Amino acid sequence: ISVGDEMIAELTAPPFVPKPVGDRPAKKLIVNMEIKEIEGEMADGVKYVYWTFGGSVPGSFIRTRVGDEVEFTLKNHPDNKLPHNIDLHAVTGPGGGASSSLVAPGHEKTFNFKCINPGLYVYHCATAPVGMHIANGMYGLILVEPEGGLPPVDKEYYVMQGDFYTKGKYGEPGMQPFDMTKAVDEHADYVVFNGKVGALTGEGALTAKVGETVRIYMGNGGPNLVSSFHVIGEIFDKVHIEGGDMINENVQTTLIPAGGSAIVEFKVDVPGTFILVDHSIFRAFNKGALGMLKVEGADNAKIYSGTTQEGIYHPEGGTIQNMPKTGNGKEVVVNKTLDQQIADGKNIYGRTCFACHQSEGQGIPAAFPPLAKSDYLNADPNRAINAVLHGLSGEITVNGKKYNSVMTSQNLTDQEISDVLTYIYNSWGNNKTKVTPEMVKTQRA
Ligand code: HEM
Ligand code: CU
Repeated sequence: ISVGDEMIAELTAPPFVPKPVGDRPAKKLIVNMEIKEIEGEMADGVKYVYWTFGGSVPGSFIRTRVGDEVEFTLKNHPDNKLPHNIDLHAVTGPGGGASSSLVAPGHEKTFNFKCINPGLYVYHCATAPVGMHIANGMYGLILVEPEGGLPPVDKEYYVMQGDFYTKGKYGEPGMQPFDMTKAVDEHADYVVFNGKVGALTGEGALTAKVGETVRIYMGNGGPNLVSSFHVIGEIFDKVHIEGGDMINENVQTTLIPAGGSAIVEFKVDVPGTFILVDHSIFRAFNKGALGMLKVEGADNAKIYSGTTQEGIYHPEGGTIQNMPKTGNGKEVVVNKTLDQQIADGKNIYGRTCFACHQSEGQGIPAAFPPLAKSDYLNADPNRAINAVLHGLSGEITVNGKKYNSVMTSQNLTDQEISDVLTYIYNSWGNNKTKVTPEMVKTQRA
């Protein structure tokens, strides 16, 4: 809403951002930010009490331009338990506003500042213990656009990384209190985008169409860890390094300091699912720092062909005849005991399935379905055999949750497939089916 030289700022929850400033003149911009302490889900079944700016982690996105005079009112909801304040890195002044904004529950405070420097800035709570307030989710981004605004793009998104420290280890269910010792030691249980595991996967995935330009306002709230931000299968055409004026081009991975940011831009040329990660890669696959950008549109084989040929590779040359190890089901079948199958299957699992379905078959929420106590798995061994043999795609429901992704076919022999599935069926509360190589052979035909 704009009245003369005054306007009320539009605030948005992630992954969305307010309208660009375009060529509007500098104004008096009124920002109303409400602090809420709320219970949320860190991961499936894992509850956490977040402290938030505006009800989301990261907090509401604020979009301003150089020359704006911001009248900032911070409101601490009466249901909250603690005092809070705000330090905006876009502010030139003591504490970035923190010293003027400390508010008790049921109070509000107003202060004013002028946006002097363009850039993408982090804001955060700076109430003692500062680390704890940040670790509980009290951070967000404020963009100060240059005169005339940033160049237009087709899609803009707001993503922010944060590390979390819980009493229980990763995935341990129930309400998880903050763990100060782990936080001090920098032993994060969760490293996530937008406040929780799976915020940007499944239904939450970012989207774009082939040919569009995408800009991500990427922040890092910390409190501790530096992010090596990367999008698998994309190259950043442009990166505003650390959210400032300097633009680097053709970047694979960009560092985002704790309490810092970057603006990354790229054109999407081919369809597919592009995975956002912190390339400190265990964080991505074991602590939650994984998001998705789903791109729809026509293939472009000139840019990416897909597999054009697949065959048997004989390093010894074509004359030496070996039993083919994979693929055609003609391998020698030995009669293994159940225990042998489980032991061998466990090895195969650790090499093959574990990367996606995880060490205890727990999967990754909204990305990879669980194999532990999976109703989908237990209902029909032939269906499971087929998933491994031929791959699986399209929407499926596992334990009441929808997945709509792609599992590639696994290049394993009948014996290997029967072993790995027997291991899975005899682990993690599944129904103890023994899968034989013959069962796999039947499905292969
Ligand atoms: C689905 C087994 C490897 C990604 C499934 C399902 C089974 C299964 C039984 C059906 C759903 C369920 O019961 O939870 C296996 C086995 C593997 C393996 C035995 C190793 C031999 C992988 C790998 C990936 C993967 C390496 C990731 C690259 C997926 C995905 C789905 C799925 C995304 C859901 C597909 C959809 O949404 O339609 N898997 N999997 N799997 N798997 Fe795997
Ligand atoms: Cu606070």
